Amino acid sequence: MDEREIDRPTVAAGKRPPIRSEMTVRQVAADYPACRKVFLRYGEPEGRPTKFGHLEPLDRFARRHGVPLNVLLDELSRAAGVPVDYDSAAARRAHRPFVAAALLLTLSLGAGWGTLLLARISRQGTFTRVPAAHVVAHGEAQLWGFVALFVMGVAVSYLPVATARPRPGRWHARFMLSSILTGVLGGFAWSLAPQQWSWLGPLSGGALILGAVGYLFLAVRQLAGKWRTPWGRFIMASALWMVVWAVADFKLRSETSPKGPAVYSQGARLMLVELAVFGFALNAIYGFGQKLLPGLLRGGSTRPRMFDATWVLHNAGVSALCLTHRADLKSMVGLGSITIAAGAVLYVAGLRGLFQRRRAAPRPEAGPDFLARYIQLAFFWLLVGLAMLAAGDLAGAVRGVSPPQAYLGATRHALTVGFMTTLILGVAQRLLPILGHSLLAWPRLVAPIFLLIAAGNALRVVTELATLAWPPAFRIMPFSAVLELSALCLFAANIVRTFWPPLDSLHRTGRVTARTHVANLLAEHPWLEDHLIVWGLRYIGRVRSVPAELTLGSLAAGEGFDPETTVARINVLLGGNTASEKKNETSR
Ligand code: HEM
Repeated sequence: MDEREIDRPTVAAGKRPPIRSEMTVRQVAADYPACRKVFLRYGEPEGRPTKFGHLEPLDRFARRHGVPLNVLLDELSRAAGVPVDYDSAAARRAHRPFVAAALLLTLSLGAGWGTLLLARISRQGTFTRVPAAHVVAHGEAQLWGFVALFVMGVAVSYLPVATARPRPGRWHARFMLSSILTGVLGGFAWSLAPQQWSWLGPLSGGALILGAVGYLFLAVRQLAGKWRTPWGRFIMASALWMVVWAVADFKLRSETSPKGPAVYSQGARLMLVELAVFGFALNAIYGFGQKLLPGLLRGGSTRPRMFDATWVLHNAGVSALCLTHRADLKSMVGLGSITIAAGAVLYVAGLRGLFQRRRAAPRPEAGPDFLARYIQLAFFWLLVGLAMLAAGDLAGAVRGVSPPQAYLGATRHALTVGFMTTLILGVAQRLLPILGHSLLAWPRLVAPIFLLIAAGNALRVVTELATLAWPPAFRIMPFSAVLELSALCLFAANIVRTFWPPLDSLHRTGRVTARTHVANLLAEHPWLEDHLIVWGLRYIGRVRSVPAELTLGSLAAGEGFDPETTVARINVLLGGNTASEKKNETSR
């Protein structure tokens, strides 16, 4: 994935973008030359050894020159003849509540609750004695509360960047989030106590439909004009399948409202999981994956024809899989899973070089190179999980009985944790810092999180299968939950710290380090710009704004300077400047 792509302005081609408070003086003066006189009036100097205007955001400029920000923005807007976008900073954080809610839900009602279930299964030595309603509650919390919310979060922030369409409104995002939260929390409470809260069944199911329609609306608006692209078609399909999934959920919750999911048939439970995993999630992953994975894998071009073929095969397979739940079409069993597996093989081939070795990335902004391993492992489990699914379906068709619970559970875990969760963990640790224009808080956690999720998932799949022939495997199985839960906790900590980082050392100590963000430094000390240009850091003179995630160390290295020496030189200047500022203060 290319950071420059993320930085592209979010306006349709030909339209002049609105003015935003985080734009730099140089950027506004270059895009709207009529604004120059406004800056000159407030004291921006002319005749510097570079283009007109500092790399200072408008809000800092206003504060430094003692002008109320809205007055400055109004004046610039009138001079430029374009409106002001007051919501831009909030919109850049639009994904955060979705991701934060997804993390909370997976740690509590999802994986947290799943760990308790696994402990009970282990004690009882059988899968059949845990209440079905408790298992459904866990599955629904994971699929709607973790996977769907995560995908929606990525969609609200990333789609407008990828399509250059206007961002979804704040109310649209809030509507989707609150609908899904009502659907998940209401559904969980209803599953555990359907007699007391029978009304919560249809109500929570209805909320899921509203959330899904909100996502469909978002996809339609964002993808207008992109229908023909292979990735756009997958995302549209994911939104349509999500509506089907929500309607199926609503129907089941309404029909069984006084009794709860305990009375769901095996076929109905399977269908809900299939609609979620293959209909919604896999289409979304295939769609967003085409835009994001080649960058993450540091790979080259992809094969769009393969993706086109995957779309047809995959969606035909999902439709066939759903139809086999009808009594009169049971003979079609196996057709759906084989078609979906064939689609996955083509998708992997389309990604070109997925399993090749990558070279290390030296820049922190490019993200840890190790993240590619998550993608490789995830697709390995996708292929394994689909092979197990197809083999189970075929064996079932030949023998006339469905595979045992442990086999189905292991297959499902290979797909939900081995594939989907591993992929989410890998992509999130790269994409979320880019969307927030920041760096991953603790890159050193990337490898331990990977090892924990990889070991936990492998242990679960193997021990769950082993229970079929070797009962002591029941006692080993819960250790897998400890490993997976630890991975999710560390991942959540890394993401939360990335969203809400500690103060930069510049703000705490007044000194810079190699990890100091150049944009912060120049916003805080615009006078430094001319020094850096004179030293030969020509990049600073060339650009109109600095990517928020660019660090001082990377800037220096990129310009052929020694990062340590550059940091030391800047600290000397900052020390001198701070001392002279203090002296000025006292003499005033
Ligand atoms: C610490 C991690 C997890 C633990 C301990 C756990 C535990 C369990 C257990 C004990 C079951 C029932 C037994 C079986 O079928 O194997 C189950 C089912 C299920 N799990 Fe998980 N799970 C975890 C993570 C996840 C994740 C991340 C997802 C989805 C992204 C997920 C989705 C499901 C689904 C869909 C079902 C089937 C629900 C149904 O039959 O209606 N689980 N899980």
